[in-house]
Amino acid sequence: MAVTEPIHINTRIRENAQSLASALEQHLLKSFAPDARKQLRLFSAGEAADLLGISPSFLRKLHFEERVPEVHTTPGGRRHYSATDLLAIRRILEDNSRTTGTYLKGRRDGDKVQVLSFLNFKGGSGKTTSAIHAAQRFALKGYRVLAVDIDPQASLTSLFGYQPEYDFLHEGSLYDAIRYENPLPFSSIIQKTYFPGLDLAPGGLILQEFEHETPTALRTNIQPPFYARMAAALQEVEQDYDIIVFDCPPQLGYLTMSALCASTGVLITVVPNMLDVASMSQFLQMSADLLDVVSNAGARMEFDFLRFLINRYEPSDGPQQQVVAFLRQLFSSEVMTSPMLKSTAISDAGLTQQTIYEVERSAFHRATYDRAMESLNAVNDEIETLLQTAWGR
Ligand SMILES: Nc1ncnc2c1ncn2[C@@H]1O[C@H](COP(=O)(O)OP(=O)(O)OP(=O)(O)O)[C@@H](O)[C@H]1O
Ligand SMILES: [Mg+2]
Repeated sequence: MAVTEPIHINTRIRENAQSLASALEQHLLKSFAPDARKQLRLFSAGEAADLLGISPSFLRKLHFEERVPEVHTTPGGRRHYSATDLLAIRRILEDNSRTTGTYLKGRRDGDKVQVLSFLNFKGGSGKTTSAIHAAQRFALKGYRVLAVDIDPQASLTSLFGYQPEYDFLHEGSLYDAIRYENPLPFSSIIQKTYFPGLDLAPGGLILQEFEHETPTALRTNIQPPFYARMAAALQEVEQDYDIIVFDCPPQLGYLTMSALCASTGVLITVVPNMLDVASMSQFLQMSADLLDVVSNAGARMEFDFLRFLINRYEPSDGPQQQVVAFLRQLFSSEVMTSPMLKSTAISDAGLTQQTIYEVERSAFHRATYDRAMESLNAVNDEIETLLQTAWGR
């Protein structure tokens, strides 16, 4: 019998890495024009009215009375709005409103910036998906948002149309703003995105260095210590934003701890099956122990809220329903009312590095698309209420 030739695992993995990288590059080139970065689609009148928080008939009236600038109109007379149009209309509405903060609901004097962490050490529980949809929806609703990619895998950065393995390989990622040696100002790593009002602090593999360097930094007592570095770095830019969204890596390392210590709200994404729930139990225990340690070292531990966000929910799945019921009984109001439904529209959009807010409805089965959109909007609007409540409104 022929003996299997041993493979050199390092050579094989390197070959795999190279063929994957070039295939991905081809895929990206096919998905987007080579030099043009991603662009945002236009929104229908119905979507525009929903995002502005007014009725479609009021929006039509605003156009009829020429109180807002005209927008792109199809030969059939349908209006389509860019995100920039929406922002311009929002500002006009706000300027003419009797109560401030009706159309621009961001923070006011004295309100602190809201910093949201999407967290769980379980891989694939939907941290990146929920973080990017939240960041995009908040930006479309007129908030000034900064999305921070804390994950060395840099999935969030890829979803914004970057190739982290090329674009920020040597410079320009979050690592440069939090590293121990000569950190750069946070403002120098911020990228504008194709969503008006939404900026990105890109991640990248180099963030892994922060995990490696922290033990030495602790020994040599470099200040600020790891748990305070994210908050300290963000101080320079936080006045420019209403909401900061952290996409955390699937591990409880120094990066995640630093993100947690800079957060005001935490969302733990959980897939409702027993294995995931069991691993979440270990995750919660470990988090609490680690937080005790940093808290004793002087870290701030005051949060406005902590919620469990159920993801990939299939309402017709009996065992899932039981797990959700179990979680609700255990954590009551800490489980968000709206779950994120499992949807092929979400995963298919992800295949072309897009979100539900970016893809065209016509590219999907209508009912599938609408269900996914409805579910994500409900989740994000619930989070928005938590933020508004934290601001005392
Ligand atoms: N509600 C959903 N319905 C269908 N697919 C989903 C849903 N949420 C996430 N996915 C898909 O599952 C995969 C993993 O999701 P995501 O990357 O958001 O998880 P993650 O927690 O950020 O993973 P990691 O721990 O690796 O960072 C992605 O391909 C995403 O498109
Ligand atoms: Mg992720």
